[in-house]
Amino acid sequence: MRSAAWYGGNGKDAYLHRAWMRRGNPDSAFEGKQPNIVIINTASDLSPCNMHLNEVAQSVKDGIWAAGGVPQNLPMISLGETNVRPTAMLWRNLAAMATEEMIRANPVDGVVLLGGCDKTIPALLMGAASVDLPTLVIPGGPMLNGSFRGKALGCGTDVWKYSEDVRAGKMSQADFNASEKSMIRSKGHCNTMGTASTMGCMAEALGMTLPGLAGTPAADSRLLEMSHESGRRIVEMVYEDLKPSDILVRGSFVNAIVALAGIGGSTNAVIHLLAIAGRVGVDLTLDDFDEIGSHIPLLVNLQPAGVHLMEDLFRAGGLRAVLNELKGSLDSKALNVTGKPLVDSLAGVEIYNEDVISKLASPLQSDAGIAVLYGNLAPQGAVIKPAAASKKLLKHRGPAVIFESIEDFHNRIDDPDLDVTEDSVLVLRGCGPMGYPGMPEVSNMAIPKKLLEQGITDLVRVCDGRMSGTAYGTVVLHVAPEAAAGGPLGLLRNGDIIILDVDARTLAVDLPDSVLAERSLPLETANSFAAPKRGWERLYIDHVQQANLGADLDFLVGKSGSAVPRESH
Ligand code: FES
Repeated sequence: MRSAAWYGGNGKDAYLHRAWMRRGNPDSAFEGKQPNIVIINTASDLSPCNMHLNEVAQSVKDGIWAAGGVPQNLPMISLGETNVRPTAMLWRNLAAMATEEMIRANPVDGVVLLGGCDKTIPALLMGAASVDLPTLVIPGGPMLNGSFRGKALGCGTDVWKYSEDVRAGKMSQADFNASEKSMIRSKGHCNTMGTASTMGCMAEALGMTLPGLAGTPAADSRLLEMSHESGRRIVEMVYEDLKPSDILVRGSFVNAIVALAGIGGSTNAVIHLLAIAGRVGVDLTLDDFDEIGSHIPLLVNLQPAGVHLMEDLFRAGGLRAVLNELKGSLDSKALNVTGKPLVDSLAGVEIYNEDVISKLASPLQSDAGIAVLYGNLAPQGAVIKPAAASKKLLKHRGPAVIFESIEDFHNRIDDPDLDVTEDSVLVLRGCGPMGYPGMPEVSNMAIPKKLLEQGITDLVRVCDGRMSGTAYGTVVLHVAPEAAAGGPLGLLRNGDIIILDVDARTLAVDLPDSVLAERSLPLETANSFAAPKRGWERLYIDHVQQANLGADLDFLVGKSGSAVPRESH
């Protein structure tokens, strides 16, 4: 056991390590026979979606003891999506770095990761992959379905929808305020197919959870049962030396991309999967998402692409029922934490409600995966989620209406004099990893009030930022390189004609290169990218990679392994 490097022997160092860790642990915990398992726990009162993870951790502990291991709880940086400003994504890499360093620094033989809210599972997976000790993930699970005045209420998605309804005069402010108390029905993360639900499913499709765990509602007792089982399983994984590098191979990323399309998952998964692949040395590119996933049909009828919520998906058969339909596109060799191929865990699963999970023969939509666009506006790529877009706008030409920042957007979007029509293309720049440090979820810009009042509910929107997984619309995002990194998005002028052709995979401005070459980013915009002088933001800006590479820090790509550090005394 790796932990024996701390606890083994008769010298003063081993004495120190053992003595301070006794506190109720039996002698056998230090004899080098029982795996020491760290539970990386993102429970926090300021991460409401992860608040219940201490209860989950207790079930994991029970399972670890029952299987002959020794559990230890390690609170980790937690990122509450709705609380932290300017954006939780600014600290995904910090949480990943802390996870990696604290696993390596401690007497740990195996790792259980407890995450939920959007950035927590990706951060934990990135960090653990760079250490490469036996690891499994327990997604904290979604909230139960909310409902408001008889209608299902989806976290995030219905906030966007209701706020647009208020601006369009279709909903009163009082009703909007009243809906707030119905939004969060139970413990757990967002109940739509937003980023948290998506990343839980990605963890399972990658092979990093016990089969059938992803999507188990946080309030369902089966989450605790599976957590107990996960605790037992991680002990076995240590004896088997089954590590992330055995599981996270290219085939497992193929499975994740196929799953992403089938469930209509969040565009944020593109960035997170690229970053995780970078940690384990799998050569995954943006183009893989298009090549592997774009022809995969949408089978899951969940908000924001559809109507149902995560509890409905769980009852209808869950992720495994979706994967079973898509089995022909899955990599048959990629393993999961059972040590067997993921596809083996699909035997016997069924769909129990075809209104929630469609059969492959009758999908909700064909060719629904992420499309990757290139052109003179996105030389390193941009993405669009056709499943959440208006079909009639997937091929479009229109004049650009440019906003230099999200504040500029908020100040002017409802100006009655704003020169905008249903043909316009809203462009928001300065929101990439460097420009707005962290890359916020602002790409799904609200529709101008005067157009909403005319009944127009979607426009083509282009941005170098991200959007919430709960959002929808014809939104081209993750444009790379971003304006702040010198990308051509910074060279656009109001009125330039933007060409979007998703079938042709094109995002371009109808201008010759020679005209673009003569332009530069407006000075005022360039100056607004004020670089912080110190602290994490300084480090982040100096080292963050562009969205098409996963927005990891350049010096965190790859892994350093689990070698035991030098003695501390
Ligand atoms: Fe935490 Fe949506 S805010 S998952």
